[in-house]
Amino acid sequence: MLSSVLLPCLTFCGAFTLTFALSKLAQLRRPTRAKLPYPPGPTPLPFLGNVLDIDRAQPWVSYTEMQKKYGDIIYTKLLGSDYIIVNTYDAAKALLEQRSSVYSDRPVFPANKLFGIDFNTVLQPYGDTWRLHRKLFHHSLRGETAIRYQNLYLEKAHGLLANLLDAPEGFEGHFRGFVASIVMAQTYGYETQPRNDPLVGAVDMLIRLLAVALSPERMAIFKAFPALEKLPSWFPGAGFKRDAVLARGLAKQVNDVPFEFVKRSLAENTARPSMVSDLLSSFDESEDNNAQERAMKATAATVFIAGSETSSSTLHVFALAMLRYPEVQKRAQAEIDSVVGRDRLPTFEDRETLPYVECIWRELLRWHPVVPLGIPHATSADDVYGGYYIPKGATVMMNVWAMTRDDRRYANPEIFDPSRHLAPTPDGSDKLALKPESVTNDPIFGMGRRICPGRYMSDALMWAAIVSILAAFRIEKATDRSGREIEVEEKFTPGLAM
Ligand code: HEM
Repeated sequence: MLSSVLLPCLTFCGAFTLTFALSKLAQLRRPTRAKLPYPPGPTPLPFLGNVLDIDRAQPWVSYTEMQKKYGDIIYTKLLGSDYIIVNTYDAAKALLEQRSSVYSDRPVFPANKLFGIDFNTVLQPYGDTWRLHRKLFHHSLRGETAIRYQNLYLEKAHGLLANLLDAPEGFEGHFRGFVASIVMAQTYGYETQPRNDPLVGAVDMLIRLLAVALSPERMAIFKAFPALEKLPSWFPGAGFKRDAVLARGLAKQVNDVPFEFVKRSLAENTARPSMVSDLLSSFDESEDNNAQERAMKATAATVFIAGSETSSSTLHVFALAMLRYPEVQKRAQAEIDSVVGRDRLPTFEDRETLPYVECIWRELLRWHPVVPLGIPHATSADDVYGGYYIPKGATVMMNVWAMTRDDRRYANPEIFDPSRHLAPTPDGSDKLALKPESVTNDPIFGMGRRICPGRYMSDALMWAAIVSILAAFRIEKATDRSGREIEVEEKFTPGLAM
């Protein structure tokens, strides 16, 4: 009897004690600002924070300099917001990958809604909509799917060769056109017009507006002065409001017009295979149809915004590297000549047997990463790393620039040297040090749950362009009237990608 009364009591008391002990433990483990310091960093000024410590045009360079003084993880404050800069690959892996449940959110970009681009996946908060987008991306852009589009990439790369032959001085436009034609064909089955395509024009214009609106300094200013959003567009200095109206119209057009084109083509039985036609024919009956259609439109429109400037900028880096390092170009061309010969252009079947070309692609990403600070992540809970406190809601930036310039990983990191990715073999032949797919896991495409879903597409389309150009042309400096070579300056302009 006694035991039957005592047992529930003991069980209850035990459960209570256990719950109490666990909650105490949780409190002890929960990081508190009072006990732990922020990571080291420059002393912030009142209100402005560290704005004056950072080169606005190249913040990644400032953060890389700061690493020498403050270490691998740095804390800065910009206009009242917390910023954590992660400077090494290992620390980024430890946070963004191993603690991805805390580091997968995005900071709030007030301009996102104002400019009508809150549909896009890249800045989507970590939640159900983002999860649905990633599911659609996984369906249409995973590694095996990129293989389906290899012929398209080669066909468009050969078109690029024809354009370069026709008007080499217009190479920048040809690079952009090459990427745009692939994105529109793969996403919507839409053939772009060689010049002045209205859809490409609309997206280009939107991207130009966004490059300014989404810059980190704009973001910090909007966050510090939310009232700015309420200013009327005629107010002096409120020109961004007029840009916002224009951007909202363009964003709607970019979402709706190509999507309706695919629906119409499907109804008329003229649709070409594409990401959207594929998604539309595999509607998940268990999910809300409206939500699915919204997500399809949004992911499709995101492909252009996220994939076009990043890819065409990387082709610019390729042209720059070939101009600056002619011996690299020669070696790659000798490899292509010996493996492929001179009677045909390379195909994806040749890829494994062209290790030096592969290394060029890998070194391009390392030498001048076009998204040098990645896309900012945000913490969804307080955290502690290396004895430092990282608050909930902090913006976390991966300093890809510092990682690719880390001389513990790369000797003479300033030099463009593809052979650093080769491994010596007993017979003296070239062999890749890493498997080709490992390039897509490098910090250049981000890390953790937000890793770039376009990395396989990008890997294949960039390879197609690089190998085709190397097989067909020699990239050389232009000459002036007296035949002297015109020197090339290494200069980058900021945008969505550098
Ligand atoms: C050289 C080309 C490219 C580079 C260097 C690049 C780089 C990146 C980086 C650094 C991120 C941020 C990852 C993170 O938050 O950790 C990202 C995200 C993203 N990229 Fe790419 N990207 C490229 C091409 C593409 C292409 C072709 C697409 C087409 C689909 C694409 C779609 C996206 C999307 C949708 C996200 C957001 C993912 C999310 O927030 O969940 N990217 N990319």
